[in-house]
Amino acid sequence: MDNDVRKIIYGTITVFLVGVMSWISIIYVSACGVTLTCNRGAPRVDRTPIPTLIPATLPGMGVSLEAETTATAPMMNSDTCHVRALNFIGAWAVSQTPKSTEADPFYFVDEDGKNCEATFTDVLALLNQSGLRGADSLACTSCHSGDLTVAPAQLDLSSYAGIITGSRREGNKPKGTDILGDGDWKASLLYDHLTVAKPDVPGHEQTLSADLMISVGKPFAGPLPTATP
Ligand code: HEC
Repeated sequence: MDNDVRKIIYGTITVFLVGVMSWISIIYVSACGVTLTCNRGAPRVDRTPIPTLIPATLPGMGVSLEAETTATAPMMNSDTCHVRALNFIGAWAVSQTPKSTEADPFYFVDEDGKNCEATFTDVLALLNQSGLRGADSLACTSCHSGDLTVAPAQLDLSSYAGIITGSRREGNKPKGTDILGDGDWKASLLYDHLTVAKPDVPGHEQTLSADLMISVGKPFAGPLPTATP
């Protein structure tokens, strides 16, 4: 009697184990075939045919940087003007008489000797442009933003009003230190900070290359209007 019960228990266990093992082998063989090197369980590598990242340095609105050059050979395209970025910003700075406004065009002579006009929007595009002073350099406005509590030297380069109002505006002073040189571009704080490397000032370790050319503005027919102070 005892023996019979034991036989039944062992029998059941054996049948159960054999069942489980054959079930597993059926699954294995049906998924992999009769092989010992089954790698169907390895994760698949996803490859998308379309690059999903856009380049991080899109050209700023209205301004395009040209390869650095010292050549003054006439450019092919005569619909745009080609000028050194530094001279371009300078032309805008000296055009800022007390009477000028954000919307007023300003004039400059480009590298080919063409009379050209542009507006403050083109200057702002340049200040918003990264990579002006070496490949990884930050845009001016990424530090000198409209938030004076964090903008270095309380200088906001992100708007016309900010630039005209000047720097060092502790406590949001309505009038700061002039950065445009009051008609004398090369004496201005802006010219100084664009052309003189300041190894101790974060963001000013590098200068704007005097040879950096940009395509900007449009040719202006007729003689340049003379600024009337
Ligand atoms: C990484 C941040 C950073 C970037 C980017 C940056 N600056 Fe500055 N800037 C500073 C700091 C810091 C100072 C010095 C603040 C001080 O002395 O208190 C400064 C000072 C200045 C000043 C002098 C203001 C004054 O009254 O002394 C000018 C002008 C200026 N920057 C213009 C620019 C221009 C133009 C650009 C873009 C080409 C630029 N900065 C990009 C951080 C930056």
